[in-house]
Amino acid sequence: MTPRDAPILFLDSGVGGLSVLAPTRALLSRAPIVYVADNAGFPYGTKTEAEIAARVPALLGRLVERFRPRLIVIACNTASTIALGSVRAALDVPVVGTVPAIKPAAEASMTRVIGVLGTAATVRQPYVTDLAARFASDCTVLRHGSAELVALAEAKLAGTTPDADACLAVMAGLFDQPGGDRIDIVVNACTHFPLVAEDLAAVSPKGTRFIDGGPGIARRVAWLTKEQDWPADATGRAVFTRADAAALGLAPALARYGLTTIESL
Ligand code: DGL
Repeated sequence: MTPRDAPILFLDSGVGGLSVLAPTRALLSRAPIVYVADNAGFPYGTKTEAEIAARVPALLGRLVERFRPRLIVIACNTASTIALGSVRAALDVPVVGTVPAIKPAAEASMTRVIGVLGTAATVRQPYVTDLAARFASDCTVLRHGSAELVALAEAKLAGTTPDADACLAVMAGLFDQPGGDRIDIVVNACTHFPLVAEDLAAVSPKGTRFIDGGPGIARRVAWLTKEQDWPADATGRAVFTRADAAALGLAPALARYGLTTIESL
């Protein structure tokens, strides 16, 4: 039996996983949540495969001992596309990963040209090549990696509106590629990017659609926990791997996502 107070644990390098937490909360309103932001390891997207492959399973091992979660959501495309297999092999807890939503994008694209916007580490993964080959073989899949957009999303949650020119420059990384003018769907393949989706839409060709994996992950989590009990009231804790002022500055944004206490590991 799963203890009723056992939390669902979300892990990201920063605030990006909130874009996965929000649709999950919408389906599971009483779920106890532990949201872990590995700010000591932020950003993930500029790290090597070896660094991510070493860091993420080790951190999750510590987190499982400490919080005894019923389920883990790796709410980060970079960590999932590199380390999902090894995390699953190492831990005796169900693990849901976040991988680029190329399949639904291919199902919906009219022009058969899809943009994939992620971190540099994610867009170079064979995992992405494999998704494109399996689910979008008749589409052109253009990829672009941006570290700047991750920083803009972090800043937005801390209260700074993203600069439109900076967003335009990021989107040019997709739309200015050969064939990029035919993109009709952009996959937000980094969990930070749905947090700035409106800012990206404002500088993209009219009618461009943005999709991400959040709603699908939420449905998967709800399905995996459908027989389980929940406490009467929801609780939400944000856990940072390093205590610093920037983490505390995120308190108002975290509270909007139901994360009412902040602690460090
Ligand atoms: N939010 C993360 C992702 O989905 C990583 C961002 C970063 O730390 O670079 O890829």
